Amino acid sequence: MAEVVIVPDEAAAGELVAGAVAELIVDRPDSVLGLATGSTPLSTYRALARRIEVDRLDVSRVRGFALDEYVGLPAGHPEGYRAVITREVVEPLGLRPELVHVPNGAPETIRIAAAEYERAIDAAGGVDLQILGIGRTGHIGFNEPGSSLASLTRVKTLTEETRADNARFFDSPDEVPMHCITQGIGTILRARHLVLLAFGDAKAQAVADAVEGPVSASRPGSAIQLHPHATVVVDEAAASRL
Ligand code: GLP
Repeated sequence: MAEVVIVPDEAAAGELVAGAVAELIVDRPDSVLGLATGSTPLSTYRALARRIEVDRLDVSRVRGFALDEYVGLPAGHPEGYRAVITREVVEPLGLRPELVHVPNGAPETIRIAAAEYERAIDAAGGVDLQILGIGRTGHIGFNEPGSSLASLTRVKTLTEETRADNARFFDSPDEVPMHCITQGIGTILRARHLVLLAFGDAKAQAVADAVEGPVSASRPGSAIQLHPHATVVVDEAAASRL
């Protein structure tokens, strides 16, 4: 059963999770962070950037692995997750870019990209703390409903609902790629600590399904119930159906 922490707002969630990440970095300066994209983790990244500055944390050996990437966006596209992770995480936190990995969504090498990503995570010794958001469909990473709970990194087709949700980041909805490469649910479950964040009414059902629903591939977030150390940090609205 995941531990659920209800906080007043996103800023408080960010402070709480940033505190846990900062402690981890102090304990283990070469720790491996699992990084999510989307709007949900942004308050955590901002709070962590402040902590790093104020506490003068040494992050020169901190490593990171993003959960997912779109397939087929032009290299350097500002909404590609490589660019997002650089802008929202690597630069503000002062991480070394070569230590922060994002799956490679280039179509030419996509056949080998998934297995390579799994190998890179293993070679790093696994993820210490995985930050997760959750989609309205219940997806974690880009593991849409129907994803095997044992799945590894692979190419997936995005649901229309997720494409519509993410259209806000693009000039037109047609520009949202159809495919992605994402860590699997089995990959995510190998992280030593999962921290799932969710805010607002729109996430309330996905949170209830993840925390209290049956564990099922049709509700990918419910996989966190299989994990021995999962923490869910939500505001009142996202907790309203618990
Ligand atoms: C995105 C990402 C997920 C993220 C989710 C929620 O598309 N691939 O990793 O958790 O959807 O996004 P948001 O935090 O913007 O609601």
